[in-house]
Amino acid sequence: MTTSSLKKIGVYTSGGDAPGMNPAIRAAVRTALSQKVEVVGILNGYVGMIENRMITLQMRDMANIIQRGGTILKTGRSAEFMKPEYRATAANNLKAQGIDGLICIGGDGSFRGAQLLGAEHKIPIIGIPGTIDNDVYGTDDTIGFDTAVNTALQAIDKIRDTADSHDRIFIVEVMGRNSGWIASHVGLAGGAEEILTAENIISVDKIVENLKNSRARGKTSSIIITAEGQKPGRAYDLSDAIRKKSGLDAKVCILGHQQRGGTPSAHDRILASRLANAAVEALLAGRNNTMIGVQADKLVEIPLDLVTSKEKPGDKTLIHLARLLSI
Ligand code: F6P
Repeated sequence: MTTSSLKKIGVYTSGGDAPGMNPAIRAAVRTALSQKVEVVGILNGYVGMIENRMITLQMRDMANIIQRGGTILKTGRSAEFMKPEYRATAANNLKAQGIDGLICIGGDGSFRGAQLLGAEHKIPIIGIPGTIDNDVYGTDDTIGFDTAVNTALQAIDKIRDTADSHDRIFIVEVMGRNSGWIASHVGLAGGAEEILTAENIISVDKIVENLKNSRARGKTSSIIITAEGQKPGRAYDLSDAIRKKSGLDAKVCILGHQQRGGTPSAHDRILASRLANAAVEALLAGRNNTMIGVQADKLVEIPLDLVTSKEKPGDKTLIHLARLLSI
């Protein structure tokens, strides 16, 4: 029997889905149930919390989900949850279900909602970083990032084959509205010549100059990686600009939402299992308003107000290394 005063906890996934959310749900549910704490799954994140869509989760409900992409609890982005009256409705629903603690699996936007809910309605909440973007402050890694990088990389390797066969330039757009982590990792791993992110803006003149120099050195094909901007399609603008400046034809490939799907990598399953187990242990031990993250492969607890108030900068060293090695 647990010594925790919590009798029933709620688990939800929120924001963009990420491969590894299912192993995280599995680990959270099984950790809680093994301590005789009941678990309720809240469907579609804050949308389901407001609309009272919740299901009881048992041990066997977690069977055969460890390898599945997406999230069995479904997810959502809720603008309504940013309004206090909707949070009050959600809190009433949680209380009516007897839920006295929450595990939130999501990114920093989801944690902002969690913090407000926790502060206004005195519900203990622990966060688990789950987003392909890897842009959550306080943790080296987020659930789904590794899988997304590998999914994008597989596509880039295939693009490289056709780029090489036709002596072509390709601009490959990867996900990351506000984050260049996927771009910098797949750029280095995929042998890209240029990597464009919000933190690494390169002028079209410079890109054209670099492309021409590459050709002069004997390179016959080139891969440019760009992170998407606020909406997908930045790669088309860049391709048009390159054509106008230089006459060079750069083909575009937008990888899009395939990066969010697929079976989670071993790395993401292990990360998800460790984080979710520690999150439930922390909640049951009476801790609140923190995120379980990983730093230098050790699990850490970071206050949610720090997580949501700070930016995690991208790693520009990878971008510089990619450029150096693509010579
Ligand atoms: O979940 C993160 C993310 O995939 C970003 O990389 C991307 O910019 C955004 O979500 C897309 O969101 P949506 O699927 O809501 O269009």
